[in-house]
Amino acid sequence: MAIGRIADQKREELARKRQQSQQGGGPERIQAQHGRGKLTARERIARLLDDSTFEELDSFVLSRPNDFDSPEQTRHLGDAVVTGHGKVNGRLTFVYSQDFTVSGGSLSEVVADKICKVMDLAVGSGAPVVGLIDSGGARIQEGVDSLSGYSNIFLRNVRSSGVVPQISAILGPAAGGATYSPALTDFVAMVDGIGQMYITGPDVIKAVTGEQVSLEDLGGASVHASKSGVAHFSFDSEETCFTELRRLLAFLPQNNMEDPPRQPSPDDPGRADEELASIIPDNPSEAYDMLDVLVRVVDNGDFMQVHERFAGNVLVGFARMDGRTVGIVANQPDHLAGVMDIDASVKAARFVRFCDAFNIPLVTFIDVPGFMPGTAQEYGGIIRHGAKLIFAYAEATVPKISVLTRKAYGGAYIVMSSKNLKGDLNLAWPTGQVAVMGAEGAVNIIHRNEIKGSDEPDELRKQLVGEYADRLMNPYVAASRGLIDDVIDPSETRLKIIRALEMLENKREALPPKKHGSIPL
Ligand code: HXC
Repeated sequence: MAIGRIADQKREELARKRQQSQQGGGPERIQAQHGRGKLTARERIARLLDDSTFEELDSFVLSRPNDFDSPEQTRHLGDAVVTGHGKVNGRLTFVYSQDFTVSGGSLSEVVADKICKVMDLAVGSGAPVVGLIDSGGARIQEGVDSLSGYSNIFLRNVRSSGVVPQISAILGPAAGGATYSPALTDFVAMVDGIGQMYITGPDVIKAVTGEQVSLEDLGGASVHASKSGVAHFSFDSEETCFTELRRLLAFLPQNNMEDPPRQPSPDDPGRADEELASIIPDNPSEAYDMLDVLVRVVDNGDFMQVHERFAGNVLVGFARMDGRTVGIVANQPDHLAGVMDIDASVKAARFVRFCDAFNIPLVTFIDVPGFMPGTAQEYGGIIRHGAKLIFAYAEATVPKISVLTRKAYGGAYIVMSSKNLKGDLNLAWPTGQVAVMGAEGAVNIIHRNEIKGSDEPDELRKQLVGEYADRLMNPYVAASRGLIDDVIDPSETRLKIIRALEMLENKREALPPKKHGSIPL
């Protein structure tokens, strides 16, 4: 026999098997997938990762036979998920992409094993995991084996939380308990028209409660991005989704032992912006758009909002200051006057905790009139939800810098990164006001009897409001007690924050030893 003949045959066999493993459920099902307006599992990975960097694992894994299989049943190489690792912006990233063309992307025991393998590798090598979800849920034929597969994934989601960033993109159905793996990850992205998440589908809902609802109205991207808050991002196409996930990963460190990456910034750290001073309206109850402030302060105006369509009264997201990643939390006077309510508290608290877990400094912009009054908020538990934000800020040991642009009233003053919650540097613009409440409300309470007994109550009220505002509605009372570290000219905001970040670069702060706190969940 010629030398190398057997080796050649083996190589051909490998090539044949490799090709077979790349075919998913076959050409017809791939066509059907495209017909649904969806990319295939492999096309998705190619768009997420840098070109030609994908290294696949477990492509020869076969699903286990089950009691329902007929003898001629096709068992697909790799089963219903493609897994492996590659690079995103040159940095190691693990990925799993569910393949709807094989058994509807359903989760068999070996699919779960494949996913768990990349999750374990990700934690072991300190790199993010991105899950691309397109699945009919637990493989019905495999019963408890597929349920235990989900449990193994959930366990890893929880144990990896705060160790490596975990991101899920919902690019098809995610039904029932299958929603909980994405829900346990740090960020959930959905694509309009194709991503759906729900615990029970429309048919079950109709049978149990009589309510009729379409799949899209029940669990589409728009619903979860704007109403439930389950989705942090919604995108109009898969292409945009992958571009934005790559942008998101570029802000994040690879793991909790690393600082976030620093990029060279063409934006001058000392850049002053005279127009910042003209953003605050003369009328204290007039709204303005806090985004106008943020984009003027951060590098190149690049602010990646998280939860953009949910609880718009607070803005959270990532930006860079002189190339350093920062997490921004900002009240938004343009939406519900920037008041803190249940959704805003939970949104901000979760973001603060993510940043703290991954060494991302927090920069907080404050203009908040207080917590939202009313029975809807009280019955909904504003007390316990608002407490989450206090907990998150008080526990966070990353650098905490704040800029008070206008109002910081009452409990909301305390919550928003105040000095007493261990804010490292608390700055205020000259338009800042720290008070228990606004002037009108305060005067109506503390001068009630005087105003009632006056012949000209309206005149007296006006005079007292003016006196109260002159005396207390400024940043200098708080600055005189060291609760505001400095009152700055608005034009210098960028420079002051960058200097503060430099000053705090080696910040060290430890909490008392404990197993974990008991955040009011
Ligand atoms: C096995 C499944 C499957 C599943 C879909 N398929 N879901 N096979 N287990 N869970 C198969 C279908 O039989 C079909 O195979 C192929 O995938 C494509 O499915 P279609 O129904 O033709 O596609 P479509 O019309 O687009 O509908 C997609 C779907 C629907 C909405 C996902 O298939 C569906 O409702 N599936 C069941 C969803 C579900 O209830 N899952 C269990 C959730 S509970 P063929 O060979 O005929 O083409 C759960 C528990 C987890 O997941 C608990 C964790 C703790």
